[in-house]
Amino acid sequence: MKILVTGKGGREHALITALSESLEQHELFAHPGSDAISALATRVDVPSLPDLIAWMKANAIDLCVAGEEALLVKDQGLANLCAEAGIPCWGPVKEAAQLEASKAFAKHFLKRHAIPTASYTVCTTAEEARAALTEFPIVLKFDGLAAGKGVAVCPDLAEAEAFISDVMEKRIFGAGNLVVESCLVGPELSVFASVCDDQYHILMPARDYKRIRDDDQGPNTGGMGAVASREIVTPEVLARIEREIVQPTVNGLIQDGLKYRGFLYFGLMLTPDGPKVIEYNCRFGDPEAEAVMPMVRGDFANYVFHAAKGTLKPELLNFAEGWSICVITASAGYPATSHSGDVIHGLDQVEGARVYHCGTRKNAAGDFESNGGRVLAVAVQASSRTEAREKAYEESAKITFDGMQRRSDIGKLHFE
Ligand code: AMP
Ligand code: GLY
Repeated sequence: MKILVTGKGGREHALITALSESLEQHELFAHPGSDAISALATRVDVPSLPDLIAWMKANAIDLCVAGEEALLVKDQGLANLCAEAGIPCWGPVKEAAQLEASKAFAKHFLKRHAIPTASYTVCTTAEEARAALTEFPIVLKFDGLAAGKGVAVCPDLAEAEAFISDVMEKRIFGAGNLVVESCLVGPELSVFASVCDDQYHILMPARDYKRIRDDDQGPNTGGMGAVASREIVTPEVLARIEREIVQPTVNGLIQDGLKYRGFLYFGLMLTPDGPKVIEYNCRFGDPEAEAVMPMVRGDFANYVFHAAKGTLKPELLNFAEGWSICVITASAGYPATSHSGDVIHGLDQVEGARVYHCGTRKNAAGDFESNGGRVLAVAVQASSRTEAREKAYEESAKITFDGMQRRSDIGKLHFE
């Protein structure tokens, strides 16, 4: 089979690695991919989405797997164009990908289908937003693309006022509405499901660590590490999530005529009143994929292929028991800025761990150097959380580069 994955980061490196370890040998391609990914998959360098579709058609690609979300909502949509070209695609059509692309769309969907979520108001002006500030803390979300900076959890009026002024008056993210929603408290949980029309299959749950510093301090990042295990939640809680959130979401997609084939990521808060949806993402999580993928057993490539063609075959996929922990190293200045060109040392010393490249490139001497905010993910799967954590840190410590940042409490905070 010829499989193309879209994306270039640690998640795609983990997905492509898992595909390469499927039962049969497959020919793998990545667009745009990275220097590290090129060891497993041939990079496809085309300038636009229509060019990518034409390339896949000309090269008889059997399956397209959406790693990142961007192409799903670009132009007419990756999955929509794949459908026209007759290429099975694992990733939803543009209309359904609005669940991730538009916060207001997602909130209306959740309300319409009575799926537990924070109460909210969609505001079109600064005045409306100010009028909606009825309690503190309160959560403000810009309804559009904001490079991960569009959500503010505001403890008081002053912070809420500053965010409203920036977003609705100074328009720092451009035009768009503001969603004002009540603040939920509780541990967060990432639940992943494969959704194929009216069928679904719940995969391994995970938890990520979004803040840059230990103890969940400092600004939000793309994620500084993740933990995956069946044991993160009890079977009772998972059953409740399935009953109150996953099944109603799949029913809602069908009722709304939104065709969905792909991974669906439920960002949840486990509140004292039960699990509630914070957000949907129409793809696997990053860095959760780097923790979950080392646990995948079975025939991942055929599992995805059949699902993209319309039949979920959960029997093709298993997950290892135990725990998997991934620790990220990030470049100097991240997340405010990022630093590239720092040579990475020690990669060849790592043993018994997976190293996924989030943002690296090869320099003229053929050595890997940093190329972006998050640089590397080191992941270890083991029977206990402590074992996975200790080994992940031991192996990650062998890797060094100038200015690198790494949290020391991944897999510990929220568990001990
Ligand atoms: P989002 O982009 O919607 O996932 O929001 C980013 C982060 O903001 C989440 O991972 C949460 O930590 C936090 N957050 C979002 N919505 C809420 C909410 N209603 N209550 C509390 N925290 C929230
Ligand atoms: N781990 C957060 C995300 O993938 O959006």
